[in-house]
Amino acid sequence: PLITLRQLLDHAAEHGYGVPAFNISNMEQGLAIMNAARACDAPVILQASLNVRNVYAGDRMIVGIVEALAEMYPDNPICLHQDHGHNEQACVSAIGAGFTSAMMDGSLMGDGKTPADYEHNVDITGRVAQIAHWIGASIEGELGVLGSLETGEAGQEDGSGAEGKMDRDQLLTDPDEAAAFVKATKVDALAIACGTSHGAYKFTRAPDGDILSMTQIEAIHKRLPETHLVMHGSSSVPQYLQDVINAYGGEMPQTWGVPVEEIERGIKHGVRKVNIDTDCRMAMSGAMRRFAIENPQAFDPRAFILAAMAELETLVRDRFERFGAAGQA
Ligand code: G3H
Ligand code: 13P
Ligand code: NA
Ligand code: ZN
Repeated sequence: PLITLRQLLDHAAEHGYGVPAFNISNMEQGLAIMNAARACDAPVILQASLNVRNVYAGDRMIVGIVEALAEMYPDNPICLHQDHGHNEQACVSAIGAGFTSAMMDGSLMGDGKTPADYEHNVDITGRVAQIAHWIGASIEGELGVLGSLETGEAGQEDGSGAEGKMDRDQLLTDPDEAAAFVKATKVDALAIACGTSHGAYKFTRAPDGDILSMTQIEAIHKRLPETHLVMHGSSSVPQYLQDVINAYGGEMPQTWGVPVEEIERGIKHGVRKVNIDTDCRMAMSGAMRRFAIENPQAFDPRAFILAAMAELETLVRDRFERFGAAGQA
């Protein structure tokens, strides 16, 4: 069945686990993730970006896929979540289309690029949370701007996210401000900034406390023990996937993501939703590259896509297990 983010994360908090939130844009990602969830008996968060809703797939398609998955996998509760809405319309239209949850990311202005001030964020997030709660959906808010503590920039290869250089204090969510924000907006979950960023190029070296601040999460959880925390930019950018991509014709410069052990540490301190997109992209495209090189005679696209689905299923199952979501459906 489709359930709300609040229902799903309340259970996660009660039982002390984290739920990976995987971005999807198509049926095959949905099937691979649900196969992994069924195999290890996990609850699922599937999220779609505005790009997927408006450009790549369309609302009718993405909601139709997830509703079909909910019928096909009746033992796995699913939350369908709108990722990074930057205005009222993005969030309310998602809920109208069948999403059970939306992220009102008021840390940036409506353009999705300009860092917003606290007053704008509180005002728009509180209003959207009120509307969502009237109609039985959940809202995730964000306080603090995602970006690299190394460079002060969002650092995304696709150019989305904050534009321009940011100060260290904008890139680390303040615990007292977080407490005031949650109280004022009544969000169901709070995304916080701790030095992660979106995309594959998060860190130029293996991250340590100077560039990834898990102590910030511990401080926020101490201040707000009841709030479900969300970690964006949580791909680990695993070396084995970089190696597959580069061994079969890809050209990805060496990079580092968020170590899974650091996410496990966050889950011990209130992190309940863990956003992962880049790792899934790398698993699928790496497997397709390998399949193409190893099977030069192949031309049925299903064979390429099945190889990609198998690699994604392996990755997803590992995250369900390591985050403690396995066995919790
Ligand atoms: O945080 C953003 C997601 O990774 C979505 O990316 O807009 O390319 O679908 P997208
Ligand atoms: P990654 O780019 O690290 O996978 O993060 C995805 C994300 O935060 C989506 O909201
Ligand atoms: Na989100
Ligand atoms: Zn994000």
